[in-house]
Amino acid sequence: MSEKTRRIAFIPGDGIGIEVTAEAIKALEALIKSHGLAVDYRVFDWGAEKYLREGVSLPEGAFDIFRRDYAAIFIGALGDPRVPSNQHAADILLGTRFNLDLYVNQRPVKLLDARLCPLKNRSEQDVDFVIFRENTEGLYVGMGGVFKKNTPDEIAVQEDMNTRKGVERILVYAFEYAGAHGLKKLCMSDKANALPFGHGLWQRAFAEVRKRYPGIESRHLYVDTLNMELVRDPSQFEVIVTCNMFGDILSDLGAALQGGLGLAPSANIHPGQVSMFETVHGSAPNIAGKNVANPMAAVLTVGMMLDHLGHAQAAARAEEAVREAIRENVTTPDLGGSFGTRETGDWIAARL
Ligand SMILES: NC(=O)c1ccc[n+]([C@@H]2O[C@H](COP(=O)([O-])OP(=O)(O)OC[C@H]3O[C@@H](n4cnc5c(N)ncnc54)[C@H](O)[C@@H]3O)[C@@H](O)[C@H]2O)c1
Repeated sequence: MSEKTRRIAFIPGDGIGIEVTAEAIKALEALIKSHGLAVDYRVFDWGAEKYLREGVSLPEGAFDIFRRDYAAIFIGALGDPRVPSNQHAADILLGTRFNLDLYVNQRPVKLLDARLCPLKNRSEQDVDFVIFRENTEGLYVGMGGVFKKNTPDEIAVQEDMNTRKGVERILVYAFEYAGAHGLKKLCMSDKANALPFGHGLWQRAFAEVRKRYPGIESRHLYVDTLNMELVRDPSQFEVIVTCNMFGDILSDLGAALQGGLGLAPSANIHPGQVSMFETVHGSAPNIAGKNVANPMAAVLTVGMMLDHLGHAQAAARAEEAVREAIRENVTTPDLGGSFGTRETGDWIAARL
């Protein structure tokens, strides 16, 4: 490995995560060859199998190794019915997000073929926006507790944690991204009418940050209205920025608009530091091991990762190859095709 070669850590994880990661690696290998990329990778066998066998989610010092030796991390998916607590998934996935402070969760929603949109009379141009989800705070920090568990008087409390710094940095990232990509419309979404404390902070930070970007037409929508508007007319959106939980939910709606979870990639970013890339979908135990999972989200995720590493041409090629596969009906059953995971992945890798 030359000094300039950048290293990627692949964590296939569980269920279909393992299957789609194999296809992502095929695509990466093809792109390394065709574009002469100075990129190398290593695969880590962390997931339910290892957790059940050894009681270890990930080895001590794992995050330091990532920080020191890796440019990016790719995670397939985590979650296995044999681990009902989901402990290993929380350790690996949330552990990576929180320990590496990956505060930007970027979820592009791009319709690659109009036939895949569940809405009537929508073209590819109508569904093309990006969601920025705050990734390190909100309801997902795990603050709270249960009192009188399993009794009729049980009480459960889940805290929504918002910091001024945390909210401001994701807002700034979204505005900067819009500016850098020639996007003119930004929508911040919260539920400040019902959550005046936590989301009141979002309102105050937004009012201040937007003043710094007069060239971007920014507006606010409550999340329930945004939800409705995304279905009614997705073409009005270019950049959406929101909190952890609403971003999680909205990006599944976004995935549906672009043809389903099998087509949705995402990035977890801390600018200038090692970042993590993953499909939006989970480990789908209901279809695992059947060679039917759609590998396209994983290939598009490789594209996002390469784009982040400065290989824009290779990234564009990955997206184009997926578009071609859809056009040629080389698809898995979720998109109406009869190809398997491996066969779709092979076809895409050959195009790359
Ligand atoms: N980032 C992650 O690792 C992640 C994300 C979501 C859920 N999960 C975990 O995954 C497990 C299953 O969760 P779930 O069922 O709610 O969500 P899921 O995304 O795994 O599956 C939801 C539905 O979409 C289908 N689907 C998902 N990806 C697909 C693909 N690539 N091709 C074709 N169909 C696909 C599944 O078959 C299922 O019907 C749980 O343990 C959950 O905690 C992990």
